[in-house]
Amino acid sequence: MQIIETDRLILRPFREGDAVDLFAYLRAPTATCFLSLKLADLAEAEIEVKKRALDEGSVAICLKQTGQVIGDLFGGGAGEDEDAATTSVGWNLNPQFGGQGYAFEAARALLDHLFRAKGFRRLYAYVEDHNKPSQRLCEKLCMRREGVFVEFVSFTKDDAGNPIYENTMQYAILRREWMSDAVAIGQSLGMTGVAGAETSGSGA
Ligand SMILES: CC(C)(COP(=O)(O)OP(=O)(O)OC[C@H]1O[C@@H](n2cnc3c(N)ncnc32)[C@H](O)[C@@H]1OP(=O)(O)O)[C@@H](O)C(=O)NCCC(=O)NCCS
Repeated sequence: MQIIETDRLILRPFREGDAVDLFAYLRAPTATCFLSLKLADLAEAEIEVKKRALDEGSVAICLKQTGQVIGDLFGGGAGEDEDAATTSVGWNLNPQFGGQGYAFEAARALLDHLFRAKGFRRLYAYVEDHNKPSQRLCEKLCMRREGVFVEFVSFTKDDAGNPIYENTMQYAILRREWMSDAVAIGQSLGMTGVAGAETSGSGA
């Protein structure tokens, strides 16, 4: 993927050397939907980094000041969507870096990139009904809550080994909505620049 720069972050592909930072948060994923990504040790993290480095839709979120990988995003990879102009997006931040606006800053830049540079028509996100921080993020990105799939998916089991099903919300936004909302998305949060104006590409 293209490297994207925002005020405080660099979004780039995963690469060798990222395993320690990835392991720091995937040793204990906080969201049930990412439990299957749990890594046992650094060796597993190195394998995961190699896999992600080959995945066009996998994005490392790095602090500009230190280079540390503080989380990741996905979207726009070779997916299972029937419509090639539609893709799912998602985010996973190291909890140490939560509550500082980094997820919003990164996700806003990714959505802008997927709409403007990659030409996607529709982006959507699945969010469990108990995941308030992720719902809040979708709403700040002006994504529309389109519905709730009741007992849609199971990531965990109860003590008796029965699947625990979760209610999953779908949020989405269209390209034309993003283009008309971009200024508002930045201004309502007191951020400088409009979505896209602060992103810059520096090669694949
Ligand atoms: C979902 C997730 C990415 C949200 O991260 P986050 O840090 O809470 O989200 P944001 O980047 O939007 O920042 C939140 C707060 O930072 C605050 N903040 C502090 N400094 C800021 C700044 N300079 N700029 C903007 N916001 C700032 C804001 O007040 C904001 O709170 P608000 O939304 O009430 O206004 C994170 O909780 C996470 O990774 N969870 C685990 C994985 C997960 O659940 N993924 C989604 C699965 S569906």
